[in-house]
Parts: sequence; C-alpha cells; structure tokens
Amino acid sequence: MSSMSREPIGVIGTGYVGLVTAAGFAELGSEVWCIDIDEPKIEGLRAGRVPIWEPGLEALLTRHRERLHFSTDLGDALEHARLLFVAVGTPPTYSGDADLSAVHAVVDAMPASDRHALVMKSTVPVGTGDSIRRAFEEQGKGGFSYVSCPEFLKEGSALKDFLEPDRVVVGDDGDWAGDAVVALYAPLEAELVRTDVRSAEMVKLASNAFLATKISFINEIANVCEETGADVVEVARGMGLDDRIGPKFLQAGIGFGGSCFPKDVAALKQLAGNSGYHFQLLNSVIEVNELQKRRVIAKLQKHLGSLVGKEIGLLGLAFKANTDDMREASSLVLSARLQAAGARVRAYDPVAEHEARKLIRGIVFGESALDVARGADAVVLVTEWPEFADLDLAEVASEMRGTLLVDGRNFFDPEAVVSAGLMYEGIGRALVRGAVPALEGD
Ligand SMILES: NC(=O)c1ccc[n+]([C@@H]2O[C@H](COP(=O)([O-])OP(=O)(O)OC[C@H]3O[C@@H](n4cnc5c(N)ncnc54)[C@H](O)[C@@H]3O)[C@@H](O)[C@H]2O)c1
Repeated sequence: MSSMSREPIGVIGTGYVGLVTAAGFAELGSEVWCIDIDEPKIEGLRAGRVPIWEPGLEALLTRHRERLHFSTDLGDALEHARLLFVAVGTPPTYSGDADLSAVHAVVDAMPASDRHALVMKSTVPVGTGDSIRRAFEEQGKGGFSYVSCPEFLKEGSALKDFLEPDRVVVGDDGDWAGDAVVALYAPLEAELVRTDVRSAEMVKLASNAFLATKISFINEIANVCEETGADVVEVARGMGLDDRIGPKFLQAGIGFGGSCFPKDVAALKQLAGNSGYHFQLLNSVIEVNELQKRRVIAKLQKHLGSLVGKEIGLLGLAFKANTDDMREASSLVLSARLQAAGARVRAYDPVAEHEARKLIRGIVFGESALDVARGADAVVLVTEWPEFADLDLAEVASEMRGTLLVDGRNFFDPEAVVSAGLMYEGIGRALVRGAVPALEGD
C-alpha cells in the first residue's frame, strides 16, 4: 500500500508502547502525531533523542522522521488524525487495581467529535471501555468512538512483535473505527481476533496472567528439583517438547518482573475480587514469584553463612535482557534484601545503569562484569545479557575473593563454571561443586 493511502494516526503517550506503535505504523506508511505531556521528552524526541533503549527503535524513528511529528498539544493529533491510539501508563495502585488516572486525563481532554476514535493500547481492566463510553456520554461527547486494541509486544523484541504479531485483537462495536483499525493492521497479514470490547480487554489480561503462571509453575518445579536431585533445565526441555506445553516461558529463574506481568496479574486478581470472584490460582502465582526473588539470599547464606560484610557482585539489573526497563526488576528486591542482610553490593548492567540509579540506593555501580567480580565473595547472574556469555570465567574467578557463582537464570554452562575454578549454583539444578574445598558450613 502506498504511503499516500495510509490512514494518519495519533499516538498519545510516547513510552515503550507509544514509540513502538508510532515507529511501526510509520514503517507501514502512516503519518503519526505523537503526543505526550512530558515536555522534555517531546523536546528530546524532536531533537532525535530516544528516551528508551529498545533494539532497532532509534533507527526506525530516524528513518521515518519525516512522517513522525512530536508535540505536547493534543490538538495537533486531533487535527490530522481520526484514530488516537492511547499508550499512557496504567501502573498499579496500592490496592492492586490499575491506576487509570492517565487514561481518564486523556478521555477528559477529548473534545466533542463524531469523527474521532480512541483506540486503547494501554492495558486496562475489563469494563474500562464501557466506563469510558459512559464518560463520553456524560461529557456530551457521545459521538466519540472507542476501540480496544491491546498490545502484546515484548520489550527487547518490540519492533519485531509489532511488525510480526502472533495476532491482532480488535474489540469494538462494529462501527467505522473498528474497521479503520483493522485496515491499518491489514498489511501485517496477522491473525485477526475481532471481538467485543470486554473480551478484547480480557484477552490481554488473561494472556499475561497465563504466562506469569507458566513462569511461577516452572519455578516451583525448580524448587522441587532442588529437593529431589532432578535438573529443571532437563525437565523443562522434556516438558517443552510436548506440543501442548511448548518451550517458551519454561525457564526457571529468580522470578518475573517488568512493567507488565506483576501489575497485570495483580490487576486481574483485583478485577476478579471486585466482581466477587476469588482468583485463587493468581494469589499463588504472585506469592511464588515474590518468594522466588528471595531464594538467592538463602543460596548465598548456605555457602557464605552470614552476609554481614560480604561482597556480592550482581551481573545485570534490568528486569530482562535487551531492555533498560527496571520496573519491578528482581534486582530491586535482591539488592535491597542483600543490603538489609549486611552485604556490600556491586552491580553492573550494560544499559540499565541510568534507570537503576533512580531506583537503587546504597550499591556501587561497576564499569564491567569483571569490575563487579573484583574482590567479591560471590557473584550472582541476575539478567541474562548476551554479553555475559562471552565472559572469561577463569578471569572472573581470578578477580574474586570467593568462589561462588549463583546463576539466577540458569544461563551459564555449569561445567564451564566449574572448570574455571568456581562453584556453581543455579536454580533447580543439582549443585555442581568445583575442585575447590567446600566452605565451612556448606
Ligand atoms: N511496556 C510494555 O512492554 C507493554 C507491553 C504491552 C502493553 N503495555 C501497556 O501499555 C501501556 C503503556 O506502557 P509503557 O510501558 O509504554 O508506559 P510508559 O510509562 O513507558 O509510557 C507512558 C507515557 O505516557 C505519557 N503520559 C502520561 N499521561 C499522559 C497524558 N495524559 N497525555 C499524554 N501522555 C501521557 C507519559 O509521559 C509516558 O511518556 C500500559 O498500560 C502498559 O501496561 C506495556
């Protein structure tokens, strides 16, 4: 389709989802008006500075800079586009409900119009679409259309996920706006799920809750493996080859984090509770995840005894590799627990240091993995950054004061770690001892 015939769009909120949506639709040929209330962010974007680290994003935004317009004035988007994609944050509140204040601010800012539609990309509780339509009616803006179009991108591979989605979900009332959104996505030739607004909202929450459940499940299997001498990596491989199960999200580790799973699981649990249903399974998913983040402490104590005064090096801080997102990262809990137990913490992350410095106090940021290993009693692999695969483990061993490597993501080859003269302890794997004398109390 030529760029001339593509529908122009507005994107409200220029965070991870907003910028990827903007870059993705620009790639498909649309002019995109990007709106944010954060003036420095918009200034930066105008000057070509991308506020987040996402592979390929800067290049795509640069390639399509002619089609991308950045503004703090909603009127710019309203003037040029009928479809306004909403990608503002919906963080958790203390009650576990989603905080919809940014969404409502957008709704309230809309003028009366019968030629515009809000297209909700933000993850919202089931029923939000209905309450927005009610708000539009009450505000005399009943002509405004509404479409639910949840986003399934994964940070780290967000552009690929946008351009090659497993499915596109469009929930609407069957008016022009739903058709227009479907037409926008048509070049991607993705599987389309066209449904009602409530079901579209639930697809998103249920998908994230299911994936989180899969992670907590394999983490519990890992914990039982530790008690019984099985190796969870082998177990997961054997399970994942079953077509009905699949290998994805079966990696045991130190718990899930990020800006989506923790809050979306809590929001679904809360939504169920608010509707009178006790979602028992999700309570366990959350609890298992919280406990999993702390198991590393017990592993360290098992080998080092008291952690008071011990030097612990953390490899990676971001909630997963290929992102600088630190929201709900397991490293936040880990570094706080370590410091509370009296340990001194040094950490290195290839890209997330800037974000981490805003959230983690009292630790030293190293300049490299080796820098973090220097003088450490133990090193913990927290984030599975690909560059850590190239680490010279013998050099790591020679820099350390102690010999323990806790592999929080089952990332390293245990044999290689042991050959380098270290002791290996993964998650759900039999402890592999190196050719080093066992420590006292071990
Ligand atoms: N990050 C992900 O991986 C991901 C994936 C799928 C869905 N989601 C959902 O998408 C939504 C956005 O997530 P994100 O990670 O992109 O958030 P984010 O925090 O990175 O970005 C949100 C942006 O919205 C802006 N904003 C807030 N209020 C505004 C307003 N009234 N008008 C204009 N801009 C406003 C903020 O300044 C910020 O730039 C959330 O609901 C999230 O759950 C996120």
